[in-house]
Amino acid sequence: RKQHFCVCRYPLGMSGGQIQDEDISASSQWSESTAARYGRLDFEEGDGAWCPEITVEPDSLKEFLQIDLRSLHFITLVGTQGRHAGGIGNEFAQMYKIKYSRDGSRWISWRNRQGKQVIEGNRNAYDIVLKDLEPPIIARFVRFMPVTDHSMNVCMRVELYGCEWLDGLVSYNAPAGEQMNLPAKSVYLNDSVYDGAIIHSMTEGLGQLTDGVFGLDNFMMSHVYNVWPGYDYVGWTNESFPGGFVEIMFEFDRTRNFTTMKVHCNNMFVHHVKAFRQVVCYFRSESDWEATPLSFSPVVDETNPSARFVTINLANHMASAIKCQFYFADAWMLFSEITFQSDTAMYNTTLAPPKTGLPPNTPPDDPTHKVDDSNTRILIGCLVAIIFILVAIIVIILWRQVWQKMLEKASRRMLDDELTASLSIQSETFIYNHNHNHSSTTSEQESNSTYERIFPLGPDYQEPSRLICKLPEFAQSSEEPASSSTAASKSTTTTTVGPDGVPHYAEADIVNLQGVTGSNTYAIPAVTMDLLSGKDVAVEEFPRKLLTFKEKLGEGQFGEVHLCEAEGMQEFMNKEFLFDIPEDQPVLVAVKMLRSDANKNARNDFLKEIKIMSRLKDPNIIRLLAVCIYSDPLCMITEYMENGDLNQFLSRHEPEGQLALLSNAPTVSFGNLCYMATQIASGMKYLSSLNFVHRDLATRNCLVGKNYTIKIADFGMSRNLYSGDYYRIQGRAVLPIRWMSWESILLGKFTTASDVWAFAVTLWEILNFCKEQPYSQLTDEQVIENTGEFFRDQKRQIYLPQPVLCPDSLYKVMLSCWRRNTKERPSFQEIHRALLDMEP
Ligand SMILES: *[C@@H]1O[C@H](CO)[C@@H](O)[C@H](O)[C@H]1NC(C)=O
Ligand SMILES: *[C@@H]1O[C@H](CO)[C@@H](O)[C@H](O)[C@H]1NC(C)=O
Repeated sequence: RKQHFCVCRYPLGMSGGQIQDEDISASSQWSESTAARYGRLDFEEGDGAWCPEITVEPDSLKEFLQIDLRSLHFITLVGTQGRHAGGIGNEFAQMYKIKYSRDGSRWISWRNRQGKQVIEGNRNAYDIVLKDLEPPIIARFVRFMPVTDHSMNVCMRVELYGCEWLDGLVSYNAPAGEQMNLPAKSVYLNDSVYDGAIIHSMTEGLGQLTDGVFGLDNFMMSHVYNVWPGYDYVGWTNESFPGGFVEIMFEFDRTRNFTTMKVHCNNMFVHHVKAFRQVVCYFRSESDWEATPLSFSPVVDETNPSARFVTINLANHMASAIKCQFYFADAWMLFSEITFQSDTAMYNTTLAPPKTGLPPNTPPDDPTHKVDDSNTRILIGCLVAIIFILVAIIVIILWRQVWQKMLEKASRRMLDDELTASLSIQSETFIYNHNHNHSSTTSEQESNSTYERIFPLGPDYQEPSRLICKLPEFAQSSEEPASSSTAASKSTTTTTVGPDGVPHYAEADIVNLQGVTGSNTYAIPAVTMDLLSGKDVAVEEFPRKLLTFKEKLGEGQFGEVHLCEAEGMQEFMNKEFLFDIPEDQPVLVAVKMLRSDANKNARNDFLKEIKIMSRLKDPNIIRLLAVCIYSDPLCMITEYMENGDLNQFLSRHEPEGQLALLSNAPTVSFGNLCYMATQIASGMKYLSSLNFVHRDLATRNCLVGKNYTIKIADFGMSRNLYSGDYYRIQGRAVLPIRWMSWESILLGKFTTASDVWAFAVTLWEILNFCKEQPYSQLTDEQVIENTGEFFRDQKRQIYLPQPVLCPDSLYKVMLSCWRRNTKERPSFQEIHRALLDMEP
């Protein structure tokens, strides 16, 4: 029943039409055809969006688009889009703020957990930008308020995502949370996202107790990154409450028939924190408090120190307000979440509880709320759910058939138009398109110049469709190493496709571990990750001031990769790879940096990437040396090798032979080429043994050290130097199509077998001394067409030619890596063995 981030992400009806025109209003409109009702996401009616009457000025917050949801909703995500109108419009909101109200009279400005109000909006008129609301909003009315930094015309289309707020709670009043002073640190147990008034007590608001985030066993750690200890909990000490209890008053939207209340309590006995000893609840239905309270004493399990829910049976009391006194069982009582389960009450007189009067223009409540036969409701609920699942399955099946048909015609046009973005569902990637009616050529020109890559499972992609929500992997605190005891606890897979084609899902099998600095790392199945998370991250913080900037290696949407010199890095390096670095000399390192304004998702991904990287230990894989995560910007420091990347390295060299003698260029022997290729195969063998998929294997992503040693890295791609190796789709997604297997391009499938394909292309580059791009005679479009030929397999596909240096036996290995059937391709183990045999 509990609305949780992962599942509570349904579109609430702007695009689907469930929200009526009369419930959408605005401060003003530019014309009848840009009225509020045209502010629906993904709609092209009227003039294509809501536009206010006049230009929006900086710092003026006069204009807004308002949505009335008719009842309280738990809103976790918002989507915005500009006015495109088939190419005529080009107005959009670069930034906006959100205000919300539960009663229509008191409006609250939304702030994120860091206190920031402004939300990044759109960058163009057509793409949908979705933003997670952290903390989520519980409201009936929501306003979008465009914000600009210069006077400009703004138009908006919007959608809200969430679900109905079944708890019905409109506010809780409680004493303000307190501060716990432990010898080592202070723990702040205040309610940091409370949206009511806080003086000595909290009144008229909701906050952390209803934000859907359950605290961890150790209350000093948090799901949220970069916050103070105790963030997830609201807590009180018995010293401040001579009566021995804390009283919390809950007010509801209407009279309800309560079955249970669940209180999520911390039980860290070592710090004298324990769930309550007893709770006494009073109920108020009309205007009077019931004389006899309900009293409940939970069974205290003295042996279990984990945070958990205590369930209190409210015995079908009817009430519109509940006042509970929680008695201390120890010196401290810490709650992170309180939920209520109720059957909607039979109400015929007053609809609203006295204190939170609804606005005068409130329409009568939706009649469907009055159904009160709980069995029927459950039955109907189940049937609807089954029907919904069936419909979803049918849609997926039909969709895939259509897709297969389209593949048959795998034409250039199709790929250009459709390969906009992809949705990862389990191990497959489905591809959908928001802007069917604008041509890719224009978008390519419009696209901004910073070079970014969006992989089908890429970090950008997560913004619209967060796969992973509250994985406790994020619990990494900067003060202490994360205890990952809770790491594997939540892992479900639910996938549904909403009527608008926007998928809503909790967690898919693939947990995305993409890098967030615009680069690509590895995708790893959740199972492996759970295994891996059994250990702590073994990297240390590095003093930022010891890094000296040398060169920018690349840039992505969320950050940059710099080449730096690091002083004293030796202490941070393991013995194993200390071998050739003199003690007091600065070491070259690559520093991947997250912009300090990156959103929380990006930060979490970045931290997750650190976790993954820190566990990759192989002589042919680049090593994570240290991190800077105590302060912004977050950095990841990895090895860099003196000879740079393999592509540049080989370009500077010539094969041994007469030609080289003439040109006087440095040479590399065939044996050393083979040695380098073997090392890449070995590194990939290691990655594949962990079920890691690299997805961007190429010479540009391999680094060369002394004596032809090779390590596989992942940041080369963001170098502008290699932007020609990537194909930009719809001006945004950028893919290394010349290295990608047919199934990665057409189906979005990335597996070890597609890494094998890329490996053979890499091998081909090596044997050509990187003097030529793969398929250099083909345009990007022709490469994609050729991919279609691989799919059709009518012997019309073009293979990369046999390089001059390449013996027949080696070319055979390469061809086997490009087999259509992924199962027929060799494994990295086999490739590695074959290459070892080949070395002279
Ligand atoms: C809660 O405590 C933290 C830490 O002292 C403080 O930064 C924050 O402003 C407080 N929040 C509220 C709402 O009082
Ligand atoms: C608070 O609780 C502790 C532990 O149960 C107890 O020792 C202490 O006397 C209590 N303090 C007050 C003021 O009740």
